[in-house]
Amino acid sequence: MKLLITGGCGFVGSNLAASALNKQDQVFIIDSLFRLGSEKNKTWLASKAKKNQLMIEIFDIADSKAVNNFFEKYAPFDGIAHLAGQVAMTTSMQNPRLDFLTNVVGTFNLLEATRQYSPQATFIYASTNKVYGEMKEINIEERENRYISPGFPNGFDESFQLDFSSPYGCSKGAADQYVRDWHRNYGLNTIVFRHSSIYGGRQFATFDQGWIGWFCLQTLQQKQALEKGIDIKPFTIAGNGKQVRDVLHIEDLVKLYELTFSNTNMCRGEIFNIGGGIGNSLSLLELFKILNDNLEIHLNFQQTPWRHSDQKFFVCNLSKINGYIAWYPKITPLEGINQYWNWLS
Ligand SMILES: NC(=O)c1ccc[n+]([C@@H]2O[C@H](COP(=O)([O-])OP(=O)(O)OC[C@H]3O[C@@H](n4cnc5c(N)ncnc54)[C@H](O)[C@@H]3O)[C@@H](O)[C@H]2O)c1
Repeated sequence: MKLLITGGCGFVGSNLAASALNKQDQVFIIDSLFRLGSEKNKTWLASKAKKNQLMIEIFDIADSKAVNNFFEKYAPFDGIAHLAGQVAMTTSMQNPRLDFLTNVVGTFNLLEATRQYSPQATFIYASTNKVYGEMKEINIEERENRYISPGFPNGFDESFQLDFSSPYGCSKGAADQYVRDWHRNYGLNTIVFRHSSIYGGRQFATFDQGWIGWFCLQTLQQKQALEKGIDIKPFTIAGNGKQVRDVLHIEDLVKLYELTFSNTNMCRGEIFNIGGGIGNSLSLLELFKILNDNLEIHLNFQQTPWRHSDQKFFVCNLSKINGYIAWYPKITPLEGINQYWNWLS
């Protein structure tokens, strides 16, 4: 397979690329190395590739000339995973223009280049559950360690109303709709995945994005400080810690992308909610309990005000993707967090 991964030096992209290299696919990557850790993932991928198996070019997808030149040189591709993006809601509030250029203009440039140079390729776009907005109209109940949504015991499906909120929600949502529409209008083999939280090795989490990774890192730092007898500083959490997400381990996600590339005819033109599902949902407080129990330390944290547009409860209903291709997440949060912890350590 000849596979193009935009954002291939990021967390999801580098895991997908490593798996493709392992299967002897030819991998092409576009990445601007904007993200912390992407340089490290680039070096890691280069160490795994055989001669002529991996091509990485560093440029901004908002630059339409650079995108077209790249496609002119290397297309056609069999598969395109479009993962490059401005990924943090907080950054989008500080710099909405950068967010717009990356997520909307960048996606548009890739769709147009695909239409011109690689119209047969399967094009998968990594969208987000944030396209459903704050979901304030949903009845949410508070329990001891988490929120629940009694009307949606299996989570939310794709028919839930779109309600873009925050620059990040608007830019990812606009791109999500462009990608779907380029199937309707131009017949491209596009597929949209609306992702919940993804976690696992090679995720260089920050305060702004990658909450499981970020809190594991805080835990590791507190543990190391305790071992050295240094006073530990509390870390902060936004809100009361009862907000819930379904979490998906990267190995399960990579399998899904691979399955989808080989089932394009079933999935083209479709949108899917993709996460761990209700069985793999976690609140922040539940994550802290796993970390406390496993590591026998008492985490020291402080609450700060809620983040803008933060959903109190979001869990994907996986019925649609289960029905289209037989894909089910296999890695439990406990297994996945242990794996991530080992990588982080
Ligand atoms: N990780 C999650 O939990 C999650 C959840 C929902 C949606 N998503 C989406 O999945 C995709 C991949 O996420 P990730 O966690 O791997 O993110 P990431 O930040 O680790 O990877 C994104 C990559 O894109 C690159 N990039 C950023 N701006 C660019 C630009 N203008 N031109 C070229 N490259 C650029 C970055 O350098 C980085 O290597 C993103 O589009 C994100 O919005 C991720």
